[in-house]
This record gives sequence, structure tokens and C-alpha cells, in this order.
Amino acid sequence: AHVVVLAGGLSYEREVSLRSGRRVADALRALDIPVELRDADAHLLDRLAADPPDVVFPVLHGAMGEDGAIRDILELVGIPYIGARPDACRVAWDKPTAKSVVAHAGIRTPASVALPKELFHDLGAAAVLDLIVSRLGLPLFVKPTRGGSALGASAVHKAEDLTAALVSCFAYGDAALVEHYVDGTEVAVSVIDGPNGPRALPAVEIVTPNGRYDYTARYDAGDTEFVTPARLSPEAAERATAAALTAHRALGLRDLSRTDLIVDAEGEVHFLEVNVAPGMTETSLLPRAVAAAGLSLGPLCETLLRRRFT
Ligand code: DAL
Ligand code: MG
Repeated sequence: AHVVVLAGGLSYEREVSLRSGRRVADALRALDIPVELRDADAHLLDRLAADPPDVVFPVLHGAMGEDGAIRDILELVGIPYIGARPDACRVAWDKPTAKSVVAHAGIRTPASVALPKELFHDLGAAAVLDLIVSRLGLPLFVKPTRGGSALGASAVHKAEDLTAALVSCFAYGDAALVEHYVDGTEVAVSVIDGPNGPRALPAVEIVTPNGRYDYTARYDAGDTEFVTPARLSPEAAERATAAALTAHRALGLRDLSRTDLIVDAEGEVHFLEVNVAPGMTETSLLPRAVAAAGLSLGPLCETLLRRRFT
């Protein structure tokens, strides 16, 4: 089979995607599967037309990767690919929309408001800041409504820090998701589709030295400690698994996803977001969960590929 791993792309997470793509390509090559690693750049359509692969593994993070756009192109040219379809990506990628779908399916998610940048011009910054704090209280978590790898995301513990958090958020997107900050254990639950439906892998717990799982903590090896399986009560672990499976199903995702959650002191689970192209780098969460389940990344990716192309 002619397999293409798409990585890179144009988003802020380009470097992360290149690392993820190399990891996936290496894992497949180790199984003697010939893989071409290809960038998603301006030449993509021409090259897909000139030399159509049998199947594509999109390992593209962020905009033009997780928002469905590249998968629309693959649908258009009729090339099978791993992962969720474009419509499901669009819903999952927009955090406020994903939160409302998952909340509707019965999973808690932190109270929030989504604020387009224009609102600050229309109402004035002071009015918007008042509105946020009166609606949600403190502490808060601010992030772009669409984004990844914690870029433009920060916690706000004092009202006077809200403006700086919004400014850094708007550097990465035109709308901010401001959430009530839920204190607790941060865990990620990966879901892989199998012959008997979606299967949740062991929850990975994230322990950061300074409590901030930011870009550096994510990608500089050694900065963050991961505990797998997460140190949760059996009931909380079961709730985390159920929440990830519910998110995967309710959002209509396919093949693989990773749901990020907070488990509070009472063991209640709060949905933060879901990733349709989870990180596959040396420090990423899904590969850890795969290893903790006693599986290997290469054979797992091969199984997903073979389901689309035989
Ligand atoms: N957005 C990064 C790649 C992740 O969720 O792993
Ligand atoms: Mg994400």
C-alpha cells in the first residue's frame, strides 16, 4: 500500500506536528510499511493528484489539520484517511461547540463564556471584564476557542490578570473561551476504535512542576511527569473512561481521539476538550496510553490504516 503521513501544515502547532508525523512514520517503517512523510503545504493538491496514495494518515495539529479542512480535500479527491470526518472535526475543534455537545450527552464541563474579540470594541474592555468576573467568578482559565498545545492559554487567579490573559489568547485566535477554573487532577483519556467499537486506553495523569501544562511543559522532555494509569479512585477512573467514550461517540469521532479532563477532589469528571489529531511526539499523551495498555504505536496505526485500505 502507498501510505502517506501528512504532517507539518500551517498552524501554530506545525513543529509539534512534524515531530508527531516523524514518530508515526518511523513506527510504521519499523513494520516494513513504506511510508512517505509529506507536508501539507501549497503543493498538496497537485501532489495528491499526481501520485494518489492508497490511504492517508493526517497527523496535522491545529488549524487546517483538526478543523476538517484537509479532510474535506481528501474526501473531494476520494482518498481514504484515518480519523474523524470533516463535519465531526469542525464540531470537535470549536471548543464551545464541543463542550455543549458533550454537556448535552450528560458530561460536566466547566461553566464558560465564549467572547469574540469584537465584543471588546463594541462594549469596551471594562464592561466585558466585569461581565466575565460577575458571571464566572475567579479563578478562570482563558484559551482560544480554537487551538491546541496550550498556546494562548492561561489561568487567571486575580481579576487584574484577566486582561493579560485575554491579550495572549487573542494573539492566537479571534475568540476567547473563558472558563471557570476547576481545580483537580488533569488527565487525558485516549480512545481507539476497535472491532467491538471504541475502546478507552488507561488514563494518563499530568503532573507539572509549577502546575502549568504549557507549551514548554508539553514538549520539553523531563519537564512534566506522567503517571499511567492515573492515580484515581476506581469510580473516578471509570467516570473518566466513560466521559471520553461519551465524547468520542457524541461528537461522531472515528478511529482515534484524546479527551482532556479534570478530576476534582470529589472524583467528579469535567470535560475540557477533545483532540481529533492527538499529539504523537515522544512526550505526548496518546503514545503513553498505548504503551500502558500493553500495545505498540506501529501495529496500532497499521490496524487503523488496514481498516481503511486492504
Ligand atoms: N494539540 C496537541 C498536539 C495535543 O493535543 O496533543
Ligand atoms: Mg487540544
